[in-house]
Amino acid sequence: MVMESSKTRRRSLIGTFAERAIRLIESRIGEKRVSSAEPPSSDTERYRHLRITRITNETPNAKSFYVEELDRSELSFRAGQYLTVEVYLDGRVHRRAYSLMSPALPGAARAFTVERVPGGKVSNHLLDFYEEGMLIRARGPSGDFTVERAEERLGNAAVEEIRFFAYGNGVTPIVSLVETLLETSTHLLSLYHHVPHGEPRLFGNRIEALLKAHPDRFRDQRIESADADSIHHLIDTLWSLESSAKPLVYICGPRSFRERVSLALEEVGVRRSRVFEERFDSPPTLNLVELPEEPQRITIRFGETVRHVEVPRGKTILDAGLDGGAPLPHRCMIGDCGSCAVRVQSGEAWSRSDGPLSQRERERGMILACMSHPLSKMEIEIP
Ligand code: FES
Repeated sequence: MVMESSKTRRRSLIGTFAERAIRLIESRIGEKRVSSAEPPSSDTERYRHLRITRITNETPNAKSFYVEELDRSELSFRAGQYLTVEVYLDGRVHRRAYSLMSPALPGAARAFTVERVPGGKVSNHLLDFYEEGMLIRARGPSGDFTVERAEERLGNAAVEEIRFFAYGNGVTPIVSLVETLLETSTHLLSLYHHVPHGEPRLFGNRIEALLKAHPDRFRDQRIESADADSIHHLIDTLWSLESSAKPLVYICGPRSFRERVSLALEEVGVRRSRVFEERFDSPPTLNLVELPEEPQRITIRFGETVRHVEVPRGKTILDAGLDGGAPLPHRCMIGDCGSCAVRVQSGEAWSRSDGPLSQRERERGMILACMSHPLSKMEIEIP
């Protein structure tokens, strides 16, 4: 998964080279990086530092960053999960989620993939300035786009086949799932992949190699067009050929693509419980102009305990609350998992995204603390 804003890049060249030099020197010292390019907050405990061991070109616009823990141990993750990477640019923290593309198999080097985004701040910064040997701040791995989540949801229901629908670089977590499952399961796996016109296919060679190695268990079909009619036709055809098996379905791509696939699946009678989606949407860019200049005071209630924190302009309620010692639950920090939901009792906030919150939850005053900034004095409650 990649979440990237389209805000125009504004860093000065001097700042760029200075930060780069600091990062090179400090990261090569080997221990935890502390620099003027890093936010002076207590949240370092919420993140891990990973060392970049190798960078490979996947396409002219995409690179994979291989990483390991500082003690050189293997990063532990489930196929389909992502890392929340944090960089400090233009005086504030930016976070983006990047799916791990490696198989979750012992001994397989761990890597996440970054694709260049026109005007994108964080992805382009990673692609242009991060090098082998540097350290990177990351949270996670997180995410429920996994087979383990399907097992939790479906219990012992028999699964013989898994069908994956991917749009463009949405194939990143899917290639991790496919490669892992080909080694660890007996499922029949099918990939339906739309590559936008004129773009190279990400992991094309790897998919070819998997097809050759597992001709009986892995099928791959390019989707020429991802418009609603083509998707409906494809799914109608696939499901009309179906035997008694009820496949699981994984979808990864932008919202419009996911909605088309989901709708077509619904029309052929596939139950929602058998469908798993990974969101590939970018929340709106934070517009500081819309936020009050002055820090806003927030009262956070959890049970009988109350904590008061000041939230400076540009900081999220989650960051300010955690810095102030409030035990706000959280996982992804990028509006994806929903674990930081809090109830607003008074005051107003501006939220960049409501992520997985339902309309009913929103109507009951729930907001995502990691995506929200106060517009006034507020009182919130941890449910
Ligand atoms: S921490 Fe995951 S949505 Fe806020």
